[in-house]
Amino acid sequence: MTAIKPPVVLPADADGIAAAVPIILADGIVAVPTETVYGLAARADSAAAVAEIYRAKGRPDFNPLIVHVPDLAAAERLAVFDDRALRLAEAFWPGALTMVLLRRAGAPLAAAVSAGLPTIALRCPSHPVMLALLLRCGLPLAAPSANRSGAVSPTSAAHVVASLGARVPLILDGGSSADGIESTIVALRPGGAWALLRPGPIGLGPITNLLGCGPEQAAAEGAQIEAPGQIMSHYAPGKPLRLNASYADSDEFMIGFAEIDGQLSLSPDGDLAEAAGRLYACLHEAAAAAQPRIAVAPLPEDGIGAAINDRLRRAAA
Ligand code: TXA
Ligand code: MG
Repeated sequence: MTAIKPPVVLPADADGIAAAVPIILADGIVAVPTETVYGLAARADSAAAVAEIYRAKGRPDFNPLIVHVPDLAAAERLAVFDDRALRLAEAFWPGALTMVLLRRAGAPLAAAVSAGLPTIALRCPSHPVMLALLLRCGLPLAAPSANRSGAVSPTSAAHVVASLGARVPLILDGGSSADGIESTIVALRPGGAWALLRPGPIGLGPITNLLGCGPEQAAAEGAQIEAPGQIMSHYAPGKPLRLNASYADSDEFMIGFAEIDGQLSLSPDGDLAEAAGRLYACLHEAAAAAQPRIAVAPLPEDGIGAAINDRLRRAAA
C-alpha cells in the first residue's frame, strides 16, 4: 500500500471543504482559492497556526498577514470601523479590498498575525469556497498568497503545488482565480488621511471618490514596511525580466499584450482585466520555459493596468 503523500489536492466542493475544516481547527494550514489569488489559510487566533504559515512560506516575520472574515460584523469584532471604513466595506465587500485599521483591544488575534503592529489588515472575500470555509470554521482566517515568500503568486492549484509542494498538506482546487492579482490595500489613518499600500483590482478612482480625498504620498524609502508592495523585489520569476519590450531577443520568452504578440499574450485584445487574470499564469509559464530571460510588452497605466505594472516592476527588480 502506498501512503498518500502531501499535498493532497481535492476539488473545492463540500467534501473538500469538510476535509479542510479539521486541519484548520487543529492549527494546520490549507491552500484555498479566492477571487484574487490562492491563499494559505490558518486560524488567525492561534500563534501556532500563524507560525505554520510563516514556516511554509519562508516568510520574513516583519511582514504581517491579511485576516479574512465572512462579513462586516465579524470584521467589527477585530478592528475599529469609523465612518470611512464602513463606507468602503459597504461599497467593496465582499471583494478585493483590504483595509488596514486599528486593532480592537482584546481582539482574538495572534500577535504574529500583524507582526506586532497596532493595526490589522482585514478583507471579506467574495469567493464562495473561502466564504464557506470561514463560516464552517467560525474563526477569522489569516491567508497570505499561497507561494514561497518573494515568488510569483498562485492563481491555480497547480501553481500552489509547484511553489509549496509538501509544505502544505491540503490544497482545494477551485479553478483559476478570476481577478488574478492580490487585493487593493488601503490604510485608513486616524484623522482622515489614507494611504494606498498596494494597488489592486479595485482602482484608486472609486476609492478616492468614496473617501472624498486622494491618498497621502507614498512612504519615503526606508520607512517602515507596511505592505509587500513596498518590498522592491517580489513576485520574482527566477530569471531576468525586461519591461516595455516591443520585440523579443533570441534568448527571451516573450509575453505579449494587445498588438504585440509573443509565445503567450496577457490579452491579444488589449483587455486589462483579462491581462490581470492571466498575469501570474504567464509568469509561471515563462519561468518554466527554456529561454533564460523574459520580455514583457508595455501595458497602459490606467485602471487595473497600474496594479499590473506595479507587479511587473517588482518582478523585474
Ligand atoms: O488578495 C489578497 O489579499 C490575498 C488573498 C489570499 O486574500 N492575500 C494576500 O496576503 O495578498 P499577503 O499576506 O500576501 O499580503 C498582505 C500584505 C502583507 O504583506 C502586509 O505587508 C500587508 O498586507 N499588511 C498586513 N497587515 C498589515 C498592517 N497591519 N499594516 C500594514 N500592512 C499590512
Ligand atoms: Mg504574496
